[in-house]
Parts: sequence; C-alpha cells; structure tokens
Amino acid sequence: SKGGYKHYMLKEIYEQPAAVQRTLNGRISDGRVAVDAFGPQAAELLAKARHIQILACGTSYHAGYVAKYWFEAIAGVSCHVEVASEFRYRTTVLPADTLIVTISQSGETADTLAALREVKARALGALCICNVPTSTLVRESDLAFITHAGPEIGVASTKAFTTQLVALMLLVLATGRRQGTLSAERERDIVQQLGTLPALLDGVLALDKDIERIAEEFGEKHHTLFLGRGAQYPVAMEGALKLKEISYIHAEAYPAGELKHGPLALVDNDMPVVAVAPKNDLIDKLKSNLQEVRARAGVLYVFADHAADVRPEAGIKVFPMPSVADEVAPIVYTVPLQLLSYHVAVIKGTDVDQPRNLAKSVTVE
Ligand code: M6R
Repeated sequence: SKGGYKHYMLKEIYEQPAAVQRTLNGRISDGRVAVDAFGPQAAELLAKARHIQILACGTSYHAGYVAKYWFEAIAGVSCHVEVASEFRYRTTVLPADTLIVTISQSGETADTLAALREVKARALGALCICNVPTSTLVRESDLAFITHAGPEIGVASTKAFTTQLVALMLLVLATGRRQGTLSAERERDIVQQLGTLPALLDGVLALDKDIERIAEEFGEKHHTLFLGRGAQYPVAMEGALKLKEISYIHAEAYPAGELKHGPLALVDNDMPVVAVAPKNDLIDKLKSNLQEVRARAGVLYVFADHAADVRPEAGIKVFPMPSVADEVAPIVYTVPLQLLSYHVAVIKGTDVDQPRNLAKSVTVE
C-alpha cells in the first residue's frame, strides 16, 4: 500500500532514511566494513582486482558512475563504467584481473544479464549489487550484495539508487582495505559518515515544501539543464533522468565545466538550470560556471551547502543543504532532485508511478 502517500514514488523517496539504514545493518563491524558482507571469496577477489568494470543500465548505471569516482579516489583502483547495452555488443578489451561489478535493482534487466554472460569468462570474477535476492543476476554472479531497499513499485527508481550508492561505498572501502590503499583511519571516518546518512536524509526531506513551491515554475518548460561536477555529475544525470521519465520534460545533464564547450548556447530565460553545489574543492569553479549561466539570463535553481556562500538574487533560487562530507554528498544531493521531479510531474498531471512507454523491469532488449 501507499501508506498514506499519494504515490508510491513519494513513499519510496520518504523511505530512504530507513532503507539506507537497512543497507548498512550487519555490514559494519567495529567501525569498519565487514568484508565478508560481500561473500566468503570477497577478501581474495578484492585484493587481487587490478581494475573494476561496472556494468548497469539507467539509474543503476548512474550509481556506477558515482562509484567510478570513489573507486579511483578512495581505493586507488582504476574503474570504468559503461551501459550494459553498449558493452555487450562491442568488442571489449579487459585489463588483466578485472573484477566485474554489475548493479541492478531488479536483477532481471536483460542487457545487464547479457553483458555479464558475455564478459564473465574473461574476468577475475563477477560481483553484483542487487535489491532482489532471488534474481537471475544474483544467481549468475560469484558474489552478491543485497541492498535491502525493500520492494520498489514506482517505475522511477529512488530508494534503489541511494541504497546502491551506500552498497558501492562499502565495496569501495572493502576494496581499499584489501588493496592496502586505504588507511584504517579514513575507512572509519567514511563508515562514520555513512552512519549519519539516515539523519541527514531526514533533514533534506524537510526541503520538500520549498521544492513543491517552485515546481510550478517548471510546469510550462520544455527543456532543463542539470549541472554538477565530480561525483555530483552523475547525480545531475540522475536528476535529469528522473525529470524526463515522469514529467516528460526534456532534461540534460552536463558536468558544469563543459558548459562553454557547447550547451551554453542553449541557455536563455526559458530553460531552467538546476545545479548541485556541495562545498568541496570544486565549489569556486562551479560558482563561476553559474555566473556564466546568469550572464546569459539563465534562471538557476541551486542546491547548495549552506556554508558555500551561494547567495540568492534575481534569477538564482538557492536551497540550503546541510554541510556533509564529500564522500557521502552524492547520496544526500540526490534526494532534492527526486523531490523536484516528483512535484513537477504532479503539477503536469502525469502518471507518476507508471510513466508512459516505460516498464519497471526491462527484461527484453
Ligand atoms: O532493475 P535495474 O536496476 O537493472 O533497472 C535498470 C533501469 O531500467 C532502471 O534503473 C530505469 O532506468 C529506471 N526506470 C530509472 O528510474
């Protein structure tokens, strides 16, 4: 049941603090990741992996894209990510000792399964991150990590994504530990950050009413741009996908540094620009990207760390976000973008839980 919510999607957005907690439960021991949470052979495979190849589709691909930043920055292991429907049909060269990581909510996505089957014999091993323990993907992988997000009914994936991100961070930490590239101190610090997520997400859900209030400004628009930098670029991609799926408004995501290489030509006062702006090394660069948008009369909606000094002014609406550690910021900044797409879809009167032309699980190619 929808538990008093108007749509499953909204219920599932609100379930995220609890869902994320379930992903963490039993996976932490003595302040560090329990490596065997990934299965008995995980310790050996994670120590041997020289390269990570992530394969997934849609929202799960975006989770993988965030993890690419994490694998390289936190565990020091090279990582590529590709949509399964491309990977399966091209000739691929795998570096020696590649660990395949598939990500899927359902575990039944045809392209992801086919990509796994195609590559498995050439890889060191295959690990999946999945929400359905009885799925084909779990059966066909060497190692499986179940996210425990609970059933996701809305076609637009929400809690599946944030729990995948938590699972992926645990995997990155376990990998860094086994590779000897991550200090116990940093691991404990990040584990501690993960533990604060349920409360952080609750805090961000409190922005709901403010977001609902501005959603109508998107109702008549035909195009939207989403901007992020670093690990927030895939968060912007996910925000754009949500808006496309359920409100049918064309949305594109760009890493903000690419603006002047083309998309800036599109910017005018009829195309809202949504940006995610946590306080990190890139915040000053992002702010100057936002100025570039303002200078072309673009209307900005910025989800910004309250301490990042992004000031509201004409044409810039700022939504204050809590200060969060860089490592968990992608998980936190995802939530307001989910709420934005939800409220825009409600205003447009679309079928939020069952958007046209889409199925929850894509079991055909
Ligand atoms: O079940 P999966 O995670 O393998 O599904 C992959 C995509 O089909 C899925 O994420 C799709 O993009 C969602 N509708 C996005 O909201």
